[in-house]
Amino acid sequence: MRLDYGVLALGATFLPGAVAWGSLGHITVAYIASHFVKDTTMTYFQELLRNDTEHYLAGVATWADSIRYTRWGRFSKDFHFIDAKDAPPSYCGVDFDRDCKADGCVVSAMANYTAQLLDAGLWPWRRNQAAKFVVHFVGDIHQPLHAENVAQGGNAIHVKWDSSELNLHHVWDSSIAEKMLGGNRRKPYDAAFKWAANLTEAIKSGKYQASSKSWAEGMILDNPIATSMVWANESNSYICTHVLPEGPEAIVGEELGGEYFEKAAPVIELQVAKAGYRLAAWLDLIADRLSGTTLPVGEL
Ligand SMILES: *[C@@H]1O[C@H](CO)[C@@H](O)[C@H](O)[C@H]1NC(C)=O
Ligand SMILES: *[C@@H]1O[C@H](CO)[C@@H](O)[C@H](O)[C@H]1NC(C)=O
Ligand SMILES: *[C@@H]1O[C@H](CO)[C@@H](O)[C@H](O)[C@H]1NC(C)=O
Ligand SMILES: *[C@@H]1O[C@H](CO)[C@@H](O)[C@H](O)[C@H]1NC(C)=O
Repeated sequence: MRLDYGVLALGATFLPGAVAWGSLGHITVAYIASHFVKDTTMTYFQELLRNDTEHYLAGVATWADSIRYTRWGRFSKDFHFIDAKDAPPSYCGVDFDRDCKADGCVVSAMANYTAQLLDAGLWPWRRNQAAKFVVHFVGDIHQPLHAENVAQGGNAIHVKWDSSELNLHHVWDSSIAEKMLGGNRRKPYDAAFKWAANLTEAIKSGKYQASSKSWAEGMILDNPIATSMVWANESNSYICTHVLPEGPEAIVGEELGGEYFEKAAPVIELQVAKAGYRLAAWLDLIADRLSGTTLPVGEL
């Protein structure tokens, strides 16, 4: 079965109350990851995802958004976020027991799909799906409003963006990144490819060279909950400092395209870079573990 991810993902962004880190962010995260994975990791996931081009991760990065509003994919709708019940701006923080819903959250989903990727007894099509979910959810965790409960992750907060009306969640999903790259893109893959090349350079030899050393520290393949909780908590901390620095009431109706944007842009850039780098490290851990087994990826 072949799905046209591009068309489906575009459709999803027009659904009311859609809560998806924009496709630009997700695709960029995937391209960055593909610059950092080991060759053996690339080979494994290219086979599993049945795509031997450099776009093998980018091409599946928005799949999870394309299915979440379908009858089949509805089970996954709560897997894209964790609703931190904190009190910005005075207190931020995520607590797994308090904040992960009974039917799941992005942190439990990371655990579920990582376990599926490592399960030799599962059909290759199940592990293929698990890979697509993991690529997507590592991106989601790094968008601060995917780790916050206030006003449905900011979806119910109306603000102004260069004079048009938007909700705060959309601003952080898409508008900030799009404005940084010079406006709304009809071709997110091209824009993401270039942005990913720049951020990869920044990690290897530019402004993130020193700090990136610690980004993949403390990752434990056998404890995906603890690992992704560190990412979620860090992402959520930006709610108090950059997303709602004066609290949720004060931001209603405010124009965010100016000074607010200037402060938010470096956060978006850093979070996208981190997500890509960490996704690569996580996929490396998975592929390394599997290389010690004789797990078949299936007849292709
Ligand atoms: C690989 O993925 C890219 C991006 O989705 C797509 O354009 C290309 O056709 C795919 N190639 C194969 C061999 O499936
Ligand atoms: C784990 O993944 C399966 C397959 O996608 C899904 O049906 C199930 O609801 C998930 N379980 C949890 C606890 O997230
Ligand atoms: C990438 O970096 C170049 C050189 O610094 C810059 O001109 C360009 O706008 C950047 N592109 C993106 C998409 O960030
Ligand atoms: C979570 O982040 C808060 C700050 O936002 C910090 O005080 C706390 O120590 C962090 N908790 C964990 C478990 O990392």
